[in-house]
Amino acid sequence: MKINRHYLELQESYLFSTIAKKVSAYTAAHPEKEVIRMGIGDVTLPLCPAVVCAMQRAVAEMGEKATFRGYGPEQGYAFLREAIQSHYAGYGVALSADEIFISDGAKSDLGNILDIFSLENRVLVPNPVYPVYVDTNLMLGRPVTYLNAGEENAFLPMPDDTVQADLIYLCSPNNPTGAAYTREQLAQWVDYAQKQHALILFDAAYEAFVSDPALPHSIYEIEGAKSCAIEFCSFSKTAGFTGTRCGYTVLPQALQFEGVQLSKLWLRRQTTKFNGVPYIVQRGAEAVFTPEGQQQVMQAIAYYRENARVMAQALRACGVWFTGGENSPYVWMKCPDGMDSWAFFDRLLEEANVVGTPGSGFGENGEGFFRLTAFGDAEKTKEAMARLQKLIS
Ligand code: MLT
Repeated sequence: MKINRHYLELQESYLFSTIAKKVSAYTAAHPEKEVIRMGIGDVTLPLCPAVVCAMQRAVAEMGEKATFRGYGPEQGYAFLREAIQSHYAGYGVALSADEIFISDGAKSDLGNILDIFSLENRVLVPNPVYPVYVDTNLMLGRPVTYLNAGEENAFLPMPDDTVQADLIYLCSPNNPTGAAYTREQLAQWVDYAQKQHALILFDAAYEAFVSDPALPHSIYEIEGAKSCAIEFCSFSKTAGFTGTRCGYTVLPQALQFEGVQLSKLWLRRQTTKFNGVPYIVQRGAEAVFTPEGQQQVMQAIAYYRENARVMAQALRACGVWFTGGENSPYVWMKCPDGMDSWAFFDRLLEEANVVGTPGSGFGENGEGFFRLTAFGDAEKTKEAMARLQKLIS
């Protein structure tokens, strides 16, 4: 027996596991300290009442012989796919429910989608980047080419016609930088993908945080995107499903490569390797799109947005360069005094008892930067920013 040696080329542990270990060690040694966590982008508000009621009703159905359900459709129940279809219609995007695939989250789908592509593809990923895009390719032995993001392009890299690519990862609003592409910028990406006969893997997990009406929520708002982009989305950040697990991926019928419809390959992959998301969870997700559910999830998003505003305001007051904080739950700041990302992580943890994510964990170009999330409690966020201001001003 031989192992997949590509795993040995990865960093020893996943970024957020490394941080969790460091924080546990610190809290074990200093149990009296009140540590405020702004590291992993995990929500803190509970599921909204509309979702909870829908799940409770579904639990009751599962406890009655007449309404019990076993295996569901691998692609997801029609009621949820149709609700998502209507949600897209609200952005002016016409999809058929058959183009939508329900899953246990965007992270899983972003990794699993690689099953349907040849290993020969050339992969382009921005740097810094959500580590899952890189690691899932490296695990298969497929190298990636980096696209430089930095202060000079406000962490929104644009296509370079001299670079050849087959698979292109884009995330907007971006994790980790919080920067969001305009329609014009995304249109340039679509144009580049079409010229290269490439496919864009578009991560829209943070679309619900877009508040500027001029910014797109979906890549399909851009003309031509349906023939060159797959979109990944999630209920995690929109509706607090980080622990409940539900997401969706859109593969339009127009997506055809080598004369094959990608949605057919994906359906084949999912029906073989996946048994679907629990009925109870899908009923909860459906409730997100009811008028009551929308009003409640938007209230939670407004709460996190206010945290982001407080964070941005504090950084502005300290004269620190940052992106995000608007249209995004992330703030991506430059480390003070030219510190490197992990040195700042340690200093912030030890001296201010605040946890963030070192930018270098997202790639070389993240060195010297630091990510903070707005998903925390409002009072704790204010307290954390007061501590940070005291530390760096
Ligand atoms: C993050 O902090 O980057 C996210 O929580 C990771 C994820 O959504 O998987």
